[in-house]
Amino acid sequence: MSDYVYNLAKKHHSVRKFKPEPLTRETVEKLIEAGQMASTSSYLQTTSVIGVEDEEKKLALKEVSGQPYVVDNGYLFVFVIDYNRHSIVNEQQSRDMSTSFESAEGLLVGTVDASLMAQNIALTAEDMGYGIVYLGSLRNDVARVREILDLPEYTFPLFGMALGVPADDENGSPKPRLPLEHVFHVDTYNKDRDVQRQQLADYDQTVSDYYKERTQGQRTETWSEQVGNFMSSKQRLEMDHWLKNAGFNKK
Ligand SMILES: Cc1cc2nc3c(=O)[nH]c(=O)nc-3n(C[C@H](O)[C@H](O)[C@H](O)COP(=O)(O)O)c2cc1C
Repeated sequence: MSDYVYNLAKKHHSVRKFKPEPLTRETVEKLIEAGQMASTSSYLQTTSVIGVEDEEKKLALKEVSGQPYVVDNGYLFVFVIDYNRHSIVNEQQSRDMSTSFESAEGLLVGTVDASLMAQNIALTAEDMGYGIVYLGSLRNDVARVREILDLPEYTFPLFGMALGVPADDENGSPKPRLPLEHVFHVDTYNKDRDVQRQQLADYDQTVSDYYKERTQGQRTETWSEQVGNFMSSKQRLEMDHWLKNAGFNKK
């Protein structure tokens, strides 16, 4: 048994600073091939990937996201939930398939499929020596992203991914995750809140120590503080509207 993929997965950290070295089309297509081999619910293959190469489009997407690495990278992917192809099959076969992709279940299937494909790409790219960062920030304005990429009905831009050769001064490192016993339950969910509180308190200390060490004491926040700040800021509340406009989550 080999630990190769295990070690690769454990080394992951998001990279947000890249050398200005574009990936070749050959490499990009290899990554897509690896992504396509991810499992896909019921063989539906509900994902498309847009490779954004046009500088103006990258700049427009950067405006949506507010993050410089949307432009400054070796390549930019946008992962799209895609039932457009199924709508073609629907027309050709004169069936009523639309409930399948307009339902909440259809949205979950599309979300899971795209995420599995993306993570296959991420791991493959990391194995090739590239760094990656996912870009949920493209959902700051889904309507604008749909316009920039000229997306048809029954497609939804779920997230982007910037990738490339890490810059020489890129200094990210693997971030500590929640304790294994907090996320892994056997047979039943462990609902003991005292145990859970203690696990979270220990983890908060670990995260705070991690930031302190990495920033010479500049950052000290705990995980609970981070999620508290983020999750109370009520972001992207227009999502339901954007989903319905694209043909999703109607049933
Ligand atoms: C779906 C998704 C969307 C994300 N969106 C962004 C983003 O817009 N900008 C960013 O800098 N990082 C983004 N991230 C990266 C997370 O912040 C990062 O994975 C997390 O902080 C853990 O850090 P690590 O990847 O270095 O382990 C995203 C990650 C995921 C999975």
